Amino acid sequence: MNWEPLADYDALSDRAADILLSAIRRNPRIVLGLPTGRTPVRMYERVVAACSREYHCFRDVVTFNLDEYVGIPSTHPGSYCTFMSEHLFSHVDMAKSNAHIPNGMARDPDAECARYEREIASAGGLDLTFLGLGSNGHIGFNEPGTPFDSRTRVVALTESTRAANAPLFPDGNVPSHAITMGIGTILESKSIVLLASGDKKRAAIERLRSGEIAEEFPASALWKHRDVTVLTA
Ligand code: GLP
Repeated sequence: MNWEPLADYDALSDRAADILLSAIRRNPRIVLGLPTGRTPVRMYERVVAACSREYHCFRDVVTFNLDEYVGIPSTHPGSYCTFMSEHLFSHVDMAKSNAHIPNGMARDPDAECARYEREIASAGGLDLTFLGLGSNGHIGFNEPGTPFDSRTRVVALTESTRAANAPLFPDGNVPSHAITMGIGTILESKSIVLLASGDKKRAAIERLRSGEIAEEFPASALWKHRDVTVLTA
């Protein structure tokens, strides 16, 4: 695990954007795993700014988001679909058909999860996946106790995760379930970059740094992968 402590959130965002853009330059057809949440917002800002100079950077890129809420229409302001469109997709030259997000409104959510896994496989697998970190150590929506070999599936969100994400649902209807890539799915990405910034993540980062590997702490699965970079600020 390669640890890169950065001076502050801006420096972390610059570094993350640089990793993402360099990877696209090396492989314009790269398959990316992408996160939502507050942490990657400035990384996306930086990427969008760079792409307005280098316009064609996303033309052949394929993306798979880590997760989406169940029962929230894609047009809802709190959906991850809306998040991705606002922060990245509507600002870059990305083909809509190349941007994948689990469909949280699917009539058969289990079939949707299986379909998502097949889409990732038929794209050739994830090359580079960016992750945020929950303060309880979750990655994607893989909450403590998730088996490390888990695949894309429907999960119930913990109360602490629902509370953390409540600001996006001011009407109080915070979703109770989500579709998330599994830890096993994430670990198959060739490279992984974890972003963690701020006091709320400090305890989780220290626990990760301790080297303990336990399903009670989902991010610790990353110790099983041979190409992980952790950016902290
Ligand atoms: C959410 C997302 C995760 C994200 C985490 C941290 O629950 N499903 O993918 O990494 O929260 O979010 P933030 O960056 O806002 O702290």
